[in-house]
Amino acid sequence: PNAFTKDTRGRQLRDLRISVTDRCNFRCTYCMPKEIFDKDYPYLSHNELLSFEEIAKLSSIFATLGVEKIRLTGGEPLLRKNLEVLIEMLAKIRTVDDLPLDLTLTTNGSILRKKAVALKAAGLHRLTISLDGLNDDIFKKMNDVDFPVTDVLDGIAAAQEAGFTNIKVNMVVKKGTNDQEIIAMARHFKGIGITLRFIEFMDVGSSNGWDMAQVLPSKEVVARINAVFPIEPIQANYYGEVAQRWRYLDGSGEIGLISSVTQTFCHECTRARISTDGQLYLCLFANEGFDFKTLLRSGKSDLEIANAVMTTWTGRKDHYSEIRGSHTAELSGTRKVEMSYIGG
Ligand code: GTP
Ligand code: 5AD
Ligand code: SF4
Ligand code: SF4
Repeated sequence: PNAFTKDTRGRQLRDLRISVTDRCNFRCTYCMPKEIFDKDYPYLSHNELLSFEEIAKLSSIFATLGVEKIRLTGGEPLLRKNLEVLIEMLAKIRTVDDLPLDLTLTTNGSILRKKAVALKAAGLHRLTISLDGLNDDIFKKMNDVDFPVTDVLDGIAAAQEAGFTNIKVNMVVKKGTNDQEIIAMARHFKGIGITLRFIEFMDVGSSNGWDMAQVLPSKEVVARINAVFPIEPIQANYYGEVAQRWRYLDGSGEIGLISSVTQTFCHECTRARISTDGQLYLCLFANEGFDFKTLLRSGKSDLEIANAVMTTWTGRKDHYSEIRGSHTAELSGTRKVEMSYIGG
């Protein structure tokens, strides 16, 4: 029914990722390095952000164009005040097939203990929590704000107690920094109904000092785990799923591998992104967006906005992961937007 939303590479719009704040209480070295995201960093002010009403309006419009999943991101989305109010609004939206949206959120888990029950009550379906290791020294070195592992684990426990199922944990793997945590993480999360996903360190933004030498290819992650806990590949959950799924042969669950560097998935990329200040980005690695905030605030009708989204999507050509070099963008002189602003 939505053939009209295909882009120049035949890809359909299915997922929307919305960044609700560009702030975070962590300074993960691969995302918001301290030296750049310091006291003087020009974070957006409150009136520059899309309001909840504006986010909900855009989301409803995207749903009429075939979007089935909405993921709230940041920065740290739980730092946005009263986020559960937005979730309640989004939970009312229906897809073109008259189903509820798959409504989910990616968080660092630091304040999940306080928020989990309210998020569940508001109608959030799923949760993904980031955690880069179980060893405190390693984790603290990566979050760079001295945040302890136990508090994130407690956040995950709070989510389970609140009734969330389908919880995922994201681990960004940096070779030489936390790759020694792979087996410990796998051991910890198997058998308790949580899907651990290993993410290849990516060259997002223009400040995280990426280079290929710090990427541990997913193939190697699979080999290391398979040597201890035998695994086999399984089918994707849905078309365009970012992670490749593998299950433990002993039946104790599954893991995911997100290999945007060594096994690109641009050919089935169904995602659009809304930045914290309402710019529409069609690729995680884009250097500019389309100004939907101005459009929203100019009194245009929903139909006019829907047409603008469609025009933007159908002209989409992005396939960055297929054409990246082996060094960070600083070296090639192209600037990309930061992950915390566009939401990953
Ligand atoms: P599910 O809905 O559970 O399948 O989640 P997801 O994997 O789509 O979302 P999540 O926020 O957990 O993202 C996992 C990792 O994949 C993050 O590091 C994202 O930045 C990365 N990612 C998500 N979408 C894309 C994409 O379109 N391109 C690239 N290169 N990376 C992506
Ligand atoms: N490379 C890979 N993943 C990253 N994330 C943030 N920055 C990077 C990067 N440079 C991850 C976060 C979170 C998800 C949304 O993106 O850890 O789990
Ligand atoms: Fe914050 Fe997540 Fe970025 Fe870490 S990866 S700095 S937790 S937004
Ligand atoms: Fe989609 Fe861009 Fe990621 Fe490729 S690099 S999968 S086009 S967001």
